[in-house]
Amino acid sequence: MGISLDSIPLSAIVRIRDLMYKVDRPFRLDQGDVSFDAPESFKQGVREALERNHTHYLPTIGVPRLRELLADKLRRKNGIPIESPDDVHVTNGGTHAMYVAMQALLEPGDEVIVPDPEWPPTMAIVRAAHAVPVAVPLHESLGWRWDLDALERAITPKTRAIYLNSPNNPTGGLLTRAYLERIAAIATERNLWIFSDEAYEDVVYRGTHISIASLPGMHARTISLYTFSKSYAVTGVRMGYYVIHDPEVRARALKVLMYTTSNVSSLVQYGAIGALEGPQDCITAFRDELQARRDLFFEGIATAAPGILTGTPPDAAFYAFLRINPDWARDAGVTGESLSWAMAEHLIRGARIGCVPGVDFGAASEGYLRFCTCRSREELTGALASMQALLTGQARA
Ligand SMILES: Cc1ncc(COP(=O)(O)O)c(C=O)c1O
Repeated sequence: MGISLDSIPLSAIVRIRDLMYKVDRPFRLDQGDVSFDAPESFKQGVREALERNHTHYLPTIGVPRLRELLADKLRRKNGIPIESPDDVHVTNGGTHAMYVAMQALLEPGDEVIVPDPEWPPTMAIVRAAHAVPVAVPLHESLGWRWDLDALERAITPKTRAIYLNSPNNPTGGLLTRAYLERIAAIATERNLWIFSDEAYEDVVYRGTHISIASLPGMHARTISLYTFSKSYAVTGVRMGYYVIHDPEVRARALKVLMYTTSNVSSLVQYGAIGALEGPQDCITAFRDELQARRDLFFEGIATAAPGILTGTPPDAAFYAFLRINPDWARDAGVTGESLSWAMAEHLIRGARIGCVPGVDFGAASEGYLRFCTCRSREELTGALASMQALLTGQARA
């Protein structure tokens, strides 16, 4: 790849992290990392793996028992008609799953339709496969979904795939069944692949998460991407997986997997077996707490940034993607080449609050800020008080 990497930016999240290191007692609302502890079942799986000396090389695609459990989960919970656990490969987290899948499917010059806004690594990973991300805006007025006529107009003879991310990071937008059915019809008619990134499948407060691969005929043309990071609060241990039905593409993916990791850590895989065999109530407990934190944040923002930062509580995921009032920013002297960068830096320097400028998620997302609402209640409350003091000059009641 060499020099071509020079054209792939590091996400602004890295610049923000550097700014945050200089801040005393920061509120880290820039980081999408849940504050919960991993479930006991996961930890027990790791401990047992060590005691039983599961510390040697493993099959590149993953431990058979783990892939059986994943195939069962994908059939039961996601409704994907998996014929064999061979369709499932284990990866070092969701980012690696996306990297492997895109390297396996995409040819140089292929176009991939992506949402704007979207989690920045997606565009970078498309580019790393020498393909071209084609951003199609999501609309706040449509519940942060595409105008599907605009999506169809963006399809060219070079389009190879549509990348879906439902629930979406950063907006929390969730795609409905009717909507997915229309995307499935478009993909089938135009002979396109789908990448379906379902990292937030378990963080849904209203509505239902639907895997597009469960719709008739879609398993064959969909690469579904998953991670344990958010569902089991194990962002640092790196456990993910993908599902590819097509044997040729899967064989290519196996090579990428082999040459990027040989095998995913045995301890992580046995931890994942523990998590899947153990009780699943942590998933709903995490979700319920995340919903309470979302509500706490959105209630607080009305007084901390009245008429300055606005938005609707999302149906899913754990972010607040808020519109900045440009008139307020101009009057307050918060200006710069990019409104979202100017406002992010204002909040970091003036209120110790980490957040990510909208423009990092795509050009059409300038004018917004992303806050992670998954942080502890204390951190969220502290951030809101600090924001209110900076933006309104008033202490929080
Ligand atoms: C939309 C989306 N996809 C995939 C991932 C990958 O997660 P991880 O690499 O931590 O498993 C993330 C993480 O934040 C994400 O937001």
